[in-house]
Amino acid sequence: MNTQLCAVTPDSVERAAALLKRGEVVAIPTETAYGLAANALDDAAVAKIFAAKGRPQDNPLISHISSLDMLPLIARDVPDDALRLARAFWPGPLTMILPRGERVADSVCAGLDTAAVRMPSHPAARAVIEACGLPLAAPSANLSGSPSPTTATDVLADMDGRVPLILDGGACEVGVESTVVSLTGPVPVLLRPGRVTKEQLEETLGREVELSGAVVSRLKEGEVARSPGMKYKHYAPKAQVIIVRGAFEHYRDYVRAEAGEGDWCLCFDGEEAALAPVPCVAYGAADDDGSQAHALFSALRALDSHGAKRAFARCPHETGVALAVYNRLLRAAAFRVVDV
Ligand code: TXA
Ligand code: MG
Repeated sequence: MNTQLCAVTPDSVERAAALLKRGEVVAIPTETAYGLAANALDDAAVAKIFAAKGRPQDNPLISHISSLDMLPLIARDVPDDALRLARAFWPGPLTMILPRGERVADSVCAGLDTAAVRMPSHPAARAVIEACGLPLAAPSANLSGSPSPTTATDVLADMDGRVPLILDGGACEVGVESTVVSLTGPVPVLLRPGRVTKEQLEETLGREVELSGAVVSRLKEGEVARSPGMKYKHYAPKAQVIIVRGAFEHYRDYVRAEAGEGDWCLCFDGEEAALAPVPCVAYGAADDDGSQAHALFSALRALDSHGAKRAFARCPHETGVALAVYNRLLRAAAFRVVDV
């Protein structure tokens, strides 16, 4: 298959919509990461997403809508909490797990009786959904297991020859995937942290949101993941990532003692000179978790393009948006953390 990379224009949006209406897969930008989109109401179309990504069939997808009119296609018995969150955070980087509606394709929900739905804010994503008039199932547009793509070039690196069209909307602003919150049980549960924080959800709902154990720790043998995606090795570059947790001075001394041929630092902006001669890729500012989220996945991909064998990573905090950064980095590091 020939893959075309096109800037977002009224023409390319129309072409994307035509392909989607015919049951094809198109990569589109969103504010979080690029998505691999297909008609969420059509099992045959959705099957092409799983094939292009090499994604396990038991990992369900998020359906993307452009207006609340589309919500009943995906979900039913929508609770008041969901409407509250929609008013506060949609369009934007928040996904809600709700009781499943009747029209959404079986394969989108991977056999569960719940469905994931979000209304993206990226103008290109919204334009494509509106132009085809369909809710779009879209996982991140990476090969299963590799870091999520935050530029069209990243998408091309993974999807060349696998999809007919990639819409190039520039670099994704948020840089980590949407916050996922489940509203199907007695208490709201945060399944995946993102740009919309646990603290913001609690403030809007006026009650506590439970943090799923899988966010910051490895699932125990035999434990069932509430968000199936959390059980897979994720976001991992080819380099072995080791998180080194502690003050910068201790990190620096540790790296100087340990680093050899092929080893890199995954540090914060401005720390490079103090770490020389160990080469560095920076992933945002130490005191700005939004910039860390924005840069993390490109930094992981940059390590691979440098041929890094190992990377010693600075450790983000565990609150606010930094919790999302920590969650992704832990998976990239396969939970290897050294305290210094
Ligand atoms: O920001 C995003 O959400 C991006 C962009 C493209 O919108 N999409 C994305 O999709 O990250 P994906 O497939 O890479 O991640 C979806 C996550 C997975 O961890 C999946 O297991 C979880 O959402 N999920 C989907 N449906 C679910 C359900 N019914 N119950 C629990 N978790 C679900
Ligand atoms: Mg993904």
